[in-house]
Amino acid sequence: MKPLNRLPGFRDFYPDPIPTSEEGRMEERQHIFRVWRQVARRYGFREYDGPPLETLELYKAKSGDEIIHQLYHFSDKGGRDIALRPEMTPTLARMVASHQRNYKKPMKWFSIPQLFRYERQQKGRLREHFQLNADIVGESDHAADAELIAFLIDVLRALGLSSEDFVIRLSSRDAWQLFFDARCDDQGNAYEFFQIVDKLERETPEISTARFAKIGIDFEEVSALIKAAEPTPVLRKMLEQLEDRGLGDYVKIDYGVIRGLAYYTGVVFEAFDREGVFRAIAGGGRYDHLIKLISKDKVDLPALGFGMGDVVLGDMLRAKGLFPKATDGADIYFQILDEALRSSSLGTIQKLRDQGVSVEWPMTPSSPKKQFKSAHDLGARYAVSIADSDAFLLRDLQTRETSTITLDQLFTMF
Ligand code: HAM
Repeated sequence: MKPLNRLPGFRDFYPDPIPTSEEGRMEERQHIFRVWRQVARRYGFREYDGPPLETLELYKAKSGDEIIHQLYHFSDKGGRDIALRPEMTPTLARMVASHQRNYKKPMKWFSIPQLFRYERQQKGRLREHFQLNADIVGESDHAADAELIAFLIDVLRALGLSSEDFVIRLSSRDAWQLFFDARCDDQGNAYEFFQIVDKLERETPEISTARFAKIGIDFEEVSALIKAAEPTPVLRKMLEQLEDRGLGDYVKIDYGVIRGLAYYTGVVFEAFDREGVFRAIAGGGRYDHLIKLISKDKVDLPALGFGMGDVVLGDMLRAKGLFPKATDGADIYFQILDEALRSSSLGTIQKLRDQGVSVEWPMTPSSPKKQFKSAHDLGARYAVSIADSDAFLLRDLQTRETSTITLDQLFTMF
């Protein structure tokens, strides 16, 4: 019989030592989450979460065609049309719309949801991923946009990446909307126009030229706008604020970015590796009308945010050797070298754990040699065993030094 395999595009996360390099390493995932949370705290973002299943309606017409085609959706046993969340922004907008009065503005919130998209599997794109979402709600000033970009830069810096490794490509849907309005009367084509711009880097110039021509746009003019990279007044102010923070080297104006999702309104951006080897590390922007749309006109709040996935980021950190090497092992491996001491050893192990010390021990009788090997395999710092009624033998497994100490002395070590 064939063994049961996991679904394509999904990952298992193993503890160290990972069985093969093809498998996910839990330690890496935790490292990324830890840094995300640390930097979010520095910037005053508060953590929230929502359910992984939402009504299908939440995504329809709000996220745009591309994500709708990638939805995992089905009817539940109650006959409701539901979907696994492909992104967090509609959930955030729904939550904010329900209880925004409870919070002072601007609200700075973050979350680390697991998201599901039925995508064609390729490098950097899976059918599930974790995504840091950071959003600011209730502030229309460009200072919020600059704050969000600074946060994004600092997350990547805290993971060990520098301005030589990545760049944030800053753009503005306003610039593109102005460009479109000056050339096209039919607003019905605006969405199609944005989609063509979004695909420019993945499409041949011939195909893009033909698609633009259909809606009366000249590709040459599109290219000229991108080439000029002239910042809009808002982008200019953001650049100034980022320079004030010493973060000017991490950003550039690049109208090649427009974002695929339908709800963006103003400044949009994406983070990329400088060498252009990987897909986007993160992407986001302003979406000043989404909360109004989702609340059916009850709440109207400006908002902006970004999502940073763990897949491309993980590939980059691995390629640059930026993940911490080994898992921290137990503080102590408590040896039971005489079975007559098993019950008193258990009492001491419990006391040590009550103090917050991490302790491993042999659950069944085994030879001293095997116990030393286990201590090493588990990466323990010390091996400890009972020497007599009030004394313990302590062996430092790194320096191999041995000493005799009391229980009180043992406690004070940690
Ligand atoms: P997004 O550009 O669809 O934006 O995704 C943001 C990031 O998530 C991408 O840059 C990429 O790193 C990662 N990502 C997306 N899809 C996949 C996938 N299939 N596999 C692996 N990684 C993936 C959004 O989702 C917006 N809701 C972000 C946002 C938050 N905008 C405002 N607030």
